[in-house]
Amino acid sequence: MNFHQLIPQVDSIIQGSSSVDEKLLAICTLLEANVEYYNWVGFYFRNGDKEELKLGPYVGAPTDHTIIPFGKGICGQVAVSNQNFVVPDVSAQDNYIACSITVKAEIVIPIFVNGENIGQIDIDSNTPDPFTEADERFLEYVCAQISKILS
Ligand code: SME
Repeated sequence: MNFHQLIPQVDSIIQGSSSVDEKLLAICTLLEANVEYYNWVGFYFRNGDKEELKLGPYVGAPTDHTIIPFGKGICGQVAVSNQNFVVPDVSAQDNYIACSITVKAEIVIPIFVNGENIGQIDIDSNTPDPFTEADERFLEYVCAQISKILS
């Protein structure tokens, strides 16, 4: 399924009557099931007033990294840069936190509520260099829709 076909399903999840966490998990499930190179899909959110991220809903292998300090790993860097981070080859990154040895690439897109970076969607891929600008645009759309249910 291509991104164009996934958008109405994202919209339908967002507009549903379930809780925020149920919607976030449904989005993880939708993306992991329909994009073959998305192998771990999850959310991290700022942990209260702390300078750290806390793991939210996710689909994929369990991770030990339920708390990530700002600045650490790909996720922690996005928490401070406020920018998309596309990693075609995780082995080339010095500041990277490995969750699984099968992971080859990663993409992290921040979520903004009222202009503030409050979290992110994090996707790991077992395929080398799989992400294009189409992934960024699609995931930016997903994050913008999520922002509406968080504000
Ligand atoms: N690889 C991430 C850590 C989170 S796991 O991918 C689930 C990072 O370097 O921040």
